[in-house]
Amino acid sequence: MVAMPELSVVVLAADNEQRAVLQVLVDGTNVAHCNYAGAHFPATSTDPALRRVVTIAPDVVLVDIPRDDPSSSLHAIELLRQEMPETPVFAFGPISQPHLIVSAMRAGAREFIERPTTTTELLEAFVRLTSAQRKTRSDSGKRGKVFAVINAKGGSGATTTAVNLALALQGSLGSTALIDLAPLGHAALHLNAKPQFTVADALRNLHRLDSSLLESFMTQQDKGLHLLAGATMPAVDTSNSELARLFDMLIGHYHYVVVDLSTRMDATARLVCSLSETVLLVAQADVASLWSAARMVQYLCETGGRERIRLVLNRFRKVPGFEDRDTESAVGAKLLWKIPNHYFAISAGIDRGSPAMRHGSSEVARAFSGLASTLTEYDDVSKRTARSMFRSI
Ligand SMILES: Nc1ncnc2c1ncn2[C@@H]1O[C@H](COP(=O)(O)OP(=O)(O)OP(=O)(O)O)[C@@H](O)[C@H]1O
Ligand SMILES: [Mg+2]
Repeated sequence: MVAMPELSVVVLAADNEQRAVLQVLVDGTNVAHCNYAGAHFPATSTDPALRRVVTIAPDVVLVDIPRDDPSSSLHAIELLRQEMPETPVFAFGPISQPHLIVSAMRAGAREFIERPTTTTELLEAFVRLTSAQRKTRSDSGKRGKVFAVINAKGGSGATTTAVNLALALQGSLGSTALIDLAPLGHAALHLNAKPQFTVADALRNLHRLDSSLLESFMTQQDKGLHLLAGATMPAVDTSNSELARLFDMLIGHYHYVVVDLSTRMDATARLVCSLSETVLLVAQADVASLWSAARMVQYLCETGGRERIRLVLNRFRKVPGFEDRDTESAVGAKLLWKIPNHYFAISAGIDRGSPAMRHGSSEVARAFSGLASTLTEYDDVSKRTARSMFRSI
């Protein structure tokens, strides 16, 4: 058993049975004690229910999200986070609704735990919390940014963009991880890396994942880039709450997290895009690619977030009479960047396992450096303040 101080817990659940169950589970962990269980979700900052929780000053608040009407519980999470920014909130709800998980995380929940919950799951969450708090104290609570890279259609250049963007970020700002979540991971091949572990190992070990274990799953690259290598066989589905937890770890550890999604078009792609600062949709400038890009924008934005999607035109060649704004209106997303077509720097580089960014000053390398600077122009790495990933995007 991990030695940890007893946590003081507040439970908020409108449903009587859920409230009773959560109380029993909390006390059953033997590392926490339920000090107060309320049925009312605070609605304003002066709400007596909120003042009461603030007075108790618990170590963690558990909020049960009702399936039928989640809005008042989500609003309560926001209020709790505003009034008690240091106090983590765990949300409990059905994991069958990805947008609910994202909404809870955005509202400021630190964990989203599937209902029905077990004592073991709750205990694991408490252990994660205390070990994360130990780490945060020594690391001033900085949170990194996620950039997702996805293609409009197969072979458009998502992996090329993700690999070179990650190398560019690492080269100029450091502390960058490249996470390969493509259906079949090619990033290691692009980098000529020989990974011992993959994303699957990190996900399998989530229950005990801390910074040092996370680092041990990474393949170290030139200039210090860390690669979390992708699947070598099509992977089994990952639950959204597991993935959100992995990303919470990643942004606690790295300043920049670049994710290669390539042709991925599923709940994982959507979740990663909703956790991203910017989603780079890589397309070529032909009719079929732009048509697919428009469909991708619709797919990824069914639950909102269109403003975070940016188009990257790869293998760009100017077509007379076709302007950038025509491309933007065809796709329904703003154009962020253009990458030139260069067989030698890109294709031959992939065959040799030596990406363009490793060779300094080619036109393509400059394009990726420029992309990295654009994405980070407002970042002040040295003065980065503590913030929650889920609320800042
Ligand atoms: N800017 C470029 N100039 C020339 N060739 C390029 C460029 N970008 C990509 N390519 C070529 O396109 C191929 C596909 O690129 P990449 O693997 O990055 O695409 P992807 O979108 O990740 O594809 P997949 O659907 O397989 O995941 C590369 O093997 C490379 O040969
Ligand atoms: Mg790819």
